[in-house]
Amino acid sequence: ALHIALPQAPRAGQLLTLLIDYEAGEGPGVCWLSPEQTAGKQKPYMYTQGQAVLNRSFFPCFDTPSVKFTYSATVKVPEGFTAVMSATSWEKQKDNTFVFKMSQPIPSYLIALVVGDIVSADVGPRSRVWAEPCLIEAAKKEYDGVIEEFLVVGEKLFGPYVWGRYDILFMPPSFPFGGMENPCLTFVTPCLLAGDRSLVDVIIHEISHSWFGNLVTNATWGEFWLNEGFTMYAQRRISTEVYGLPYTCLEAATGRALLRQHMDATGEDHPLNKLRVVIEPGVNPDDTYNETPYEKGYCFVSYLAHLVGNQSKFDAFLQAYVNRFKFQSITADDTLGFFLEYFPELKEKGVDSIPGFEFDRWLNTPGWPPYLPDLSPGQQLMRPAEELAELWAADSLNMEAIEAVDIMGWRTYQLVYFLDQVLQKSPLPEGNVKRLSKMYPKISKAQNAELRLRWCQIVLKNNLEAEYSKVKDFLHSQGKQKYTLPLYRAMWAGSEATRALAMETFSATAPQLHVNVQNYVKKILGLAAAE
Ligand code: BES
Ligand code: ZN
Repeated sequence: ALHIALPQAPRAGQLLTLLIDYEAGEGPGVCWLSPEQTAGKQKPYMYTQGQAVLNRSFFPCFDTPSVKFTYSATVKVPEGFTAVMSATSWEKQKDNTFVFKMSQPIPSYLIALVVGDIVSADVGPRSRVWAEPCLIEAAKKEYDGVIEEFLVVGEKLFGPYVWGRYDILFMPPSFPFGGMENPCLTFVTPCLLAGDRSLVDVIIHEISHSWFGNLVTNATWGEFWLNEGFTMYAQRRISTEVYGLPYTCLEAATGRALLRQHMDATGEDHPLNKLRVVIEPGVNPDDTYNETPYEKGYCFVSYLAHLVGNQSKFDAFLQAYVNRFKFQSITADDTLGFFLEYFPELKEKGVDSIPGFEFDRWLNTPGWPPYLPDLSPGQQLMRPAEELAELWAADSLNMEAIEAVDIMGWRTYQLVYFLDQVLQKSPLPEGNVKRLSKMYPKISKAQNAELRLRWCQIVLKNNLEAEYSKVKDFLHSQGKQKYTLPLYRAMWAGSEATRALAMETFSATAPQLHVNVQNYVKKILGLAAAE
C-alpha cells in the first residue's frame, strides 16, 4: 500500500490536493508488448487491464470498486503512435499529446489506456472500431452498421446510454479476455473477427455492462455476480429482441454447459460456487474467477423475473434499478431490498424465503442453481445437434443417418452446441472422431475461435494424435484465458504425449501470454510453487 504522511492532521471535511510523482514499471496492470506480439509485428504496443485489482500498478488509487471518481489524463506518446483511453472526450494536441477526460464517476478498474500503431473507422453514429492498420478493414466489415441497434435496444430496455460514444478496440492476440467493458471503449480479442458476425454476443455482453457494472457496480469483488449475472441477463434480453428467442436460448444453453463443466470439475460444493464469495484479505479476486457469477447469476436474475411473471414488468424493474443505483456501488442486499420494495406484493408473499429457493440460499449456498430458466424455445436448434452427437457416439456408425444431416447451414452456436455434446460423450468409440474430422472440415479446419477451442478439446479427449498440432497452432495464435486454461488442463490430464505437448507449447508461447495467464498455466503444469 502507498502510505502518505501529511505535515499536519487535516480537519474533518477539509479538502486536500495530493500531487503524487511516480513511475509505473513492470506491474501486472500495464502490459508492454514487443512488435512480434502485435498483429502487424512492426511497432511495440502497450495496454492496461485494470479489472479486478491490477490498476494499482498503473496509477495510485483507491483500488476498490466501492469508490468512484472522474479523471482526466494527458498522455504524450512517440511519433507514429496513438493513445486511446476509456474517456468521454479526447483531443489530440501538438507534440503527439492526447488529452482525455472521463466526466462520469467510475471505479478505478475501468480506467484503461492503449498506446500503439492504431487507426479507426466509423461503424455507426456513435461508434467506431480501433485496430492495428492490418486489421482495420476486417474490423470495420465485421461490425459496420450493427452496433447502433444493440445500443438502441439497450436504451429501450434499461434507460439512457450515459457514456456518449461506444467504440471498440481490437487488441493484440495475447489479450487475455474475450472482451473488457472499459467505458466508451470496449477492448476485445481479435478472435472476434470471425468474418461472419457470429461472435457478436461478446459485444452485446460488453454493451450490457454500460448499465450493469459500469453504472451500477458491485461494491466488492465478492459480489461480482451483480456485474456479470445481471449483464448476462441483459445480454440475453438484447439478443432476444434482436435475434429472437430460439437463437438466444441456444446461446444460453452453451453457457449452461460451461457452468456444468465447471461444477463437475470443481465439485458442486466448492466454496467458489456461491454467488456471494468470501475473499479473504490478501487473496487476489481474479483467483476466484469462474462461471458461477455469470451463469448461476443469470439463473438467479431469471428466477427474479420468473417470480414477477411478466417480462415487461421485469424490464421496467431493471430500468428502475439502474436509475435508482446509477453511479453507485452496491451490494446484493441493496439489489434484493430494492426488488422487494419495488414489488410489495411479492414481499408480502414472502418470496425471499420460499423453501429451496431462499434468497439467502441463492447467495450463500454453493452448487447447481435451484431454478433454471426454460430454454426449450431453443430446442428447434438444439435437438438436431443433440441427435447428430448421439449418432457419432454410437459403436457402429450409421453413416446413412449421419449423411442425411446437412450441417453446412448451421449457425456457429449450433455447431458449438453439437461439439459440446460430442465432448461430453468423449472419448468416442475408436475411429469415430477421425471420421468426424474428415467428414466436417467446416469444424476440424475452422478458423472460428469458439469452434477451434471445442475441436481441440475433442482432439485431446480422444487422443487424436494426428491433430495435436491444431492444439499447438491455436495456442500460438491467441492468448485468451478462457481458451488457454481449459486446453492446458486437458493436456495435463491426458497422456505422456499430451503433457509433453503442453510443456513444449508453453515454453514457446509463455512470453506472449499475459502474466496472470502465464501464472495460471504454470500452476496447471506444476511449474509454480503451490500457494
Ligand atoms: N469484465 C469481464 C472480463 C473480466 C472479468 C476481466 C474479470 C477481468 C476480471 C467481461 O465483461 C467478460 O465477462 N468477458 C467475457 C465475455 C463473455 C462472457 C461474453 C470473456 O472475456 O470471456
Ligand atoms: Zn462481463
